[in-house]
Amino acid sequence: MHGLKVAATVLAFLAGNAAAGITEPVTVKGNAFFVGDKRFYVRGLDYQPGGSSELTDPLATDSCLRDIPYFQQLGINTIRVYTIDNSKNHDKCMNALSDAGIYLILDVNTPKFSIKREYPKESYNSIYIQHVFATVDVFGKYTNTLGFFAANEVVDSPTTTGAATYVKAIIRDMKAYIKKHQKRHIPVGYSAADVTSNRMQIAQYLNCGDEELRSEFHGVNDYSWCGESTMEISGWGDKVKNYTDYSIPVFLSEYGCNTVPERPFNEVEALYSDKMTHVFSGGLVYEYSMEPNKYGIVQIDTLDAKDVKTLPDFDNLKAAFKKTPIPDDDGGYKENGQPSKCPPRTNSWEALDDIPPMPDNASKYLELGAGKPRGTNGPSNQYIPSKEQAPTDTGVAGPAPTDSGEDNVSSTKTRASGSPFVTATSSVFVGGEATNTQTSGSASPSQTSSSGADAAAPRAGLGKMFVAAVVVMTSFLAGMMM
Ligand SMILES: *[C@@H]1O[C@H](CO)[C@@H](O)[C@H](O)[C@H]1NC(C)=O
Ligand SMILES: *[C@@H]1O[C@H](CO)[C@@H](O)[C@H](O)[C@H]1NC(C)=O
Ligand SMILES: *[C@@H]1O[C@H](CO)[C@@H](O)[C@H](O)[C@H]1NC(C)=O
Repeated sequence: MHGLKVAATVLAFLAGNAAAGITEPVTVKGNAFFVGDKRFYVRGLDYQPGGSSELTDPLATDSCLRDIPYFQQLGINTIRVYTIDNSKNHDKCMNALSDAGIYLILDVNTPKFSIKREYPKESYNSIYIQHVFATVDVFGKYTNTLGFFAANEVVDSPTTTGAATYVKAIIRDMKAYIKKHQKRHIPVGYSAADVTSNRMQIAQYLNCGDEELRSEFHGVNDYSWCGESTMEISGWGDKVKNYTDYSIPVFLSEYGCNTVPERPFNEVEALYSDKMTHVFSGGLVYEYSMEPNKYGIVQIDTLDAKDVKTLPDFDNLKAAFKKTPIPDDDGGYKENGQPSKCPPRTNSWEALDDIPPMPDNASKYLELGAGKPRGTNGPSNQYIPSKEQAPTDTGVAGPAPTDSGEDNVSSTKTRASGSPFVTATSSVFVGGEATNTQTSGSASPSQTSSSGADAAAPRAGLGKMFVAAVVVMTSFLAGMMM
């Protein structure tokens, strides 16, 4: 009996430790990311089995446990997820990712909640703001949440630049919300489409003006390095030049041009070389799973399928990463750059420097908290102003529920008892990436990708193995002590 009690105490202690999380938060200094004193280079994948236009949540089912071993084979340190359901519980995936030393950059929008470039002013309403704040509450508690993308490719052409005004508004609101309601600061940024005519303007615009309005990092989606290219041919050399004085971290939030039959991924070498690391902080390959737009490096039949089939590009990427380790030094980053000058308003740059205030009925969420995450329930923020009535906001402001989601109790328990047995590889990866100069005026595949995987029942997976390991360990300890 006594032995059992001791064993239980040991387990409780281990579980308590594990709850602190294995990944140390990423911070921003100058134009670089850091973990502690060491520069952090993003080296990762865009991850949205099921496609980003569908409301699927790859972090709310055990499918993430199926995929983490593949992330580890590649040696990545970051994933980007485009869409989640903020009413679900994400403890199990987030903790398993943390145990594997993997950070998350999360887009706070979903197909149901986003700034609409056609009606940016109307879509920037309290329903939208409640959704964004609730998502911040749900993911802000994980130490391996690297940052939030306030938006992805809202400006996707020469004629949608005015919508950037509202992107900047929600960046401001998110920063204010994090400051007021989160235990630590989590950086907020934007992921930009590669539009030749306003590539530099959007970067400057989001990094100009008062501190409370400015982005804290800038992602660029870039498909201009195709096949066996070079810094010159791809145009990445010119982009490095153009972003040289940029004062916040910039990285490739999507790369991996697929116009060649098999991708050699030789841009990886450029990205993490000193040709780029003084300006770029690595990047994310688009994308993990094969979807209709044909960028995947593995094949998965449905979100919750058991099997993963690696494709030739998986091995190519793995070889490229292996050949090019993450730099071990600070890459020549710039600590004290100046914010950008706001780009002048012209016919081709229409965003406002005067950012509109938060709508009146959203300020209660900033003051009191976003309340309950509404997930896929409740009204969308989007409507066509000339045709439809504005939706009514039914949210109730207040503190975030301490635990949200369907399986909140079981998943937390599984994780707590299982974690001590996970091999922690919380290594800090370092890397850098390249840019290119190919002209393009259109949105990247992330905007148009869609596929029909539905959220399905979770699979039994590592969680059960952890529980089994704990049972074995407990019996073992109990036996020893009796
Ligand atoms: C916000 O408040 C205004 C004025 O009270 C109201 O007309 C509008 O419908 C509200 N918006 C939402 C989204 O509830
Ligand atoms: C989630 O956890 C809270 C607090 O422990 C509990 O009150 C609530 O019923 C749980 N929700 C579900 C769906 O299990
Ligand atoms: C670099 O900046 C110049 C001046 O703003 C611009 O004309 C050019 O298109 C930019 N090049 C790239 C590759 O962004």
